[in-house]
Amino acid sequence: MTYPATFLWGASTAPHQVEGNNVNSDWWAREGLMPGMEPSGDADDSYHRYREDIRLLAEAGLDSYRFGIEWARIEPRPGQFSRAELAHYRRMIDTCAEFGVTPVVTLHHFSSPGWFADEGGWLAERATERFASYVTEATTILDGVGWVVTINEPNQMAMMIMLQEAMRTGSLDEWLSPTVQSEGDRTRIAASLPVPTPEFGLPFVAAHHAVRDIVRERTGAKVGWTVANGALTSTPGNEEKFREVLYNLEDLYLEAARGDDFIGVQSYSSQAVDANGLVPHPDHPDNTLVGTAYRPDALGMAVRHAAEVTGLPVLVTENGIATADDDRRIHYTREALGHLESAIDDGIDVRGYLHWSLLDNYEWGHWGPTFGLIAVDRTTFVRTPKPSLAWLGEVARTARSSTLEGHVR
Ligand code: BGC
Repeated sequence: MTYPATFLWGASTAPHQVEGNNVNSDWWAREGLMPGMEPSGDADDSYHRYREDIRLLAEAGLDSYRFGIEWARIEPRPGQFSRAELAHYRRMIDTCAEFGVTPVVTLHHFSSPGWFADEGGWLAERATERFASYVTEATTILDGVGWVVTINEPNQMAMMIMLQEAMRTGSLDEWLSPTVQSEGDRTRIAASLPVPTPEFGLPFVAAHHAVRDIVRERTGAKVGWTVANGALTSTPGNEEKFREVLYNLEDLYLEAARGDDFIGVQSYSSQAVDANGLVPHPDHPDNTLVGTAYRPDALGMAVRHAAEVTGLPVLVTENGIATADDDRRIHYTREALGHLESAIDDGIDVRGYLHWSLLDNYEWGHWGPTFGLIAVDRTTFVRTPKPSLAWLGEVARTARSSTLEGHVR
């Protein structure tokens, strides 16, 4: 009886990570420039194979699919909107309906049109206006969609644009300690990235608030955004630093969600904060393929914190593990769900669980870290569901039938 009858059970993807050939986007351009970055290329060719992806998800027993629509395709030039691309995404929404799947649609998931980036991106004066104009067009295909995410992980985006600014102004080296540079270890580099200051987050807050009203006025959807939840903890004596890091990294974005219809929680691991800030994930054989600590308990911590700060219903929009060992994925997810159930039992209003990710996909520069419930052959694009897909589908079926029994009783 833990899970409410309308609880969504599903999986998530992002357009740039699965579609392939997102050639008008800023990410496509970046992939050719950054040393050590693999290209996304054809990705999973989900642009053409979305029907099969939705079918596999539904047949496994899941009932919800979070996917994104790609701004760079819909608005290839400023003010020039592609009817054909809008129709493409409408077909995806209709395909979900055909398979009895609830779509959760993300309007922006890290990638933007190249022209938007050239104009100065999120730091440009016209950023909100540009985004709002795209979202206004996008709402024309969202009829009947119940859940809309405006911006995915604005806190990660803030970190990314701060990094880009540092590269542009030549101050990047100040961030990276000599050890990190000499080892060239990208997971360590990621762990050493600084916490974004509010000036890099505020453009996202403005954009989110502007489009939240547009989506509400033009569709019947519940609107929210998703935050990368770090399940942060303080080390003894460092509470003040902890509060500063927590605010800049997370709470700024959670507070900005007040007034939304839900908060999207995205949880993978947990990290401590000491006097110097975020403590990098210690080296440990249990670490995931992206170098993060194995912490399924993070989900419960993240959900509780997000609910407390926002006062909103929670939708878990991402939770998962980068591993080549699918048993480990099942193990991690089973434990994470246990922590989620405790939070629900404690009265937290959780509306659904969407696993990251439906497919092994392009992990922003790298193909190595596999998060998928389904493997994809990158040459033939043949999909091979992993045991974890059937396992999660069964969890969903069982939860649904016990809720039903509870109601009948
Ligand atoms: C992002 C995804 C990413 C995942 C795993 C989240 O930060 O929204 O795009 O693939 O985490 O790293």
